[in-house]
Amino acid sequence: MIRPPMALANQLSHVWPLGSTVDDRGRLTLGGCDAVELAREFGTPAYVVVVDDIRTRARAFVEAFRARTEDFEVSFASKAFPCTAVYRLLASEGIGCDVAGGGELALALRGGFDPARITLHGNAKSEDELRFARDCGVGAVVLDSLHDLQRLEQTVAEDGRGAQTVLIRVTPDVRGDTHAGISTGQADSKFGFGPDAAREAIALAQASPHLDLDGLHMHIGSQLLDLQPFRDAVAAIADLGDFRTYNLGGGLGVAYTADQHPPSIEDYVEAKVGAVEESIGPGKRIVDEPGRALVANAGVTLYTVETIKQNVSTWVAVDGGMSDNLRPMLYGARYEAVVADRMSAPAGAPCRITGKHCESSDVIVAEAHLPDPRRGDIIATPVTGAYGHAMANTYNGALRPPVVFVQDGDATVVVRRETYEDLTARDV
Ligand code: LLP
Repeated sequence: MIRPPMALANQLSHVWPLGSTVDDRGRLTLGGCDAVELAREFGTPAYVVVVDDIRTRARAFVEAFRARTEDFEVSFASKAFPCTAVYRLLASEGIGCDVAGGGELALALRGGFDPARITLHGNAKSEDELRFARDCGVGAVVLDSLHDLQRLEQTVAEDGRGAQTVLIRVTPDVRGDTHAGISTGQADSKFGFGPDAAREAIALAQASPHLDLDGLHMHIGSQLLDLQPFRDAVAAIADLGDFRTYNLGGGLGVAYTADQHPPSIEDYVEAKVGAVEESIGPGKRIVDEPGRALVANAGVTLYTVETIKQNVSTWVAVDGGMSDNLRPMLYGARYEAVVADRMSAPAGAPCRITGKHCESSDVIVAEAHLPDPRRGDIIATPVTGAYGHAMANTYNGALRPPVVFVQDGDATVVVRRETYEDLTARDV
């Protein structure tokens, strides 16, 4: 099969951050910065994040809602990229934020989010987390089980700060087409209340002097490329009562490879707003929690090729792997890869881009077509902005990569690379 040059195959594809180019030397540029220079200056592996890409998508969500409804909140699902600078960036866009526990709550506060616009999630919140949320005055707590409800009631009763606004998380028994590990809408999910259990929770919350029930929450799964499950899920919760707020979670999928074509932000918002109006009625406050769709495509990971060997396959081993991107190993996620200074060279024979970790699952791209890869090449994998830094780990003593913001030709480190000292900082 004849493959087009990489520049045609990848560079201008929609997987790359907005504004990415190939310069006249065939080099990848991100946010106006030469990717090879970025690798030289900041080392590899490194997460490079195009600031304008995130801003553009945040505005697209807000505009899409504003065009369709008056009462809405776009709330960044911060588990997708929990670092202070990203919180700061999205707080400055004037949107809300959701946190999955005390750690993300601490980060969101440090990043400047107004506590009143923070929503706390979690299927196993601790008493400490609930007290922390109360002390800082989070806007809403999403209740996930009866134990969760009782524990929050008790926390509120003890702290005497007045009733807490809550949402009840409902599991609508709708399954989207995504990896089982990130599907949450099915009846047999660890999250939320099924419709019957939800009725009981709703009655308890409404009867409690400590809880102020504002509405329902659901999140049916992540990386969904079809909009119908979102509509079905709204229809499935419509008869649970009449509430002010419907928080519909996140879930809009993104393109990881050029052959994937997710719905636009506008079509996604249209589906959700339309479904609420149709199944539930007009005038509802709609909250949406995009994570991946806000930050995934803004991020690119840069690696250096350390070794190349050939047996049954050609193994191109880089200086990162499952410590900086767990997604291929956990979900079989597919990524593309390029050589950052030979973007216009013809694609070569298939190879496997593997990491440096001590297990065979450590394959970042199972089938790449790099142009004649060599030791020392800078490899770039796009679409690592969501759940990359978030799920990074120190397996094999790996030093977690820096996060480098790029914009208008300037680069700024917003998370520094981990050091050997960091690795022992907690050891006593
Ligand atoms: N709201 C709630 C309550 C969630 O649990 C999630 C994601 C979101 C919003 C945001 O979903 P998104 O818009 O990003 O699809 N580590 C996995 C993804 C796990 C998502 C968990 N919850 C991955 O790398 O694909």
